[in-house]
Amino acid sequence: MSKVVVFDHPLIQHKLSIIRDKSTNTKTFRENVNEIGSLVTYEVTRDFEVKEIDIETPITKTKAKVLVKDVVIIPILRAGLGMVDGIQNVIPTAKVGHIGLYRDEETLKPNKYYAKFPIETKQATVLIVDPMLATGNSAIAAIDEVKAYGAKDIRFVGIVGCPEGIKALQEAHPDVDIYIVSIDEKLNEVGYIVPGLGDCGDRLFGTK
Ligand code: URA
Repeated sequence: MSKVVVFDHPLIQHKLSIIRDKSTNTKTFRENVNEIGSLVTYEVTRDFEVKEIDIETPITKTKAKVLVKDVVIIPILRAGLGMVDGIQNVIPTAKVGHIGLYRDEETLKPNKYYAKFPIETKQATVLIVDPMLATGNSAIAAIDEVKAYGAKDIRFVGIVGCPEGIKALQEAHPDVDIYIVSIDEKLNEVGYIVPGLGDCGDRLFGTK
């Protein structure tokens, strides 16, 4: 079974409170989602493999360490886009793929309308990014797609999850570890996380 890491660092808790607040404006919401994206990446990458290389500092020759594997960030459109800059700020060499899934508001099932992955996806550590892990259906469908493309080392990176979404994702993809910053109480009857933060895509892009 995959592990669930809840990275509730005080700085993240503070920023999470800002994005939960319905009076937070679009600009501040977007900035804080990105900043949480940067901060959670420290935890997501904590066990990344490094290798020794030889370098020369201005003073002497020395050994240094660099990351072994490529990193590919794949946001689930739209809301996943909100964390990409933040993650790339701390992994500037990461490539970015995209997967477009919209949620049918009646069935709550995801429909794919776009997918484009970097060639490195097959060997890289792939970060599937969606701020909200609600039903888990979008994350499951996105991971189905990247696995079909050839990805083998996949992690899910989000902000707010709930027990229902975590259970569904763990059952569907027991090899994919889940990194979030809060496990909220529940999913409501229309598929929103409670207490949550509302529709993350709408709040990021100022729609509705
Ligand atoms: N997607 C959102 O943006 N918010 C939720 O609460 C659930 C799914």
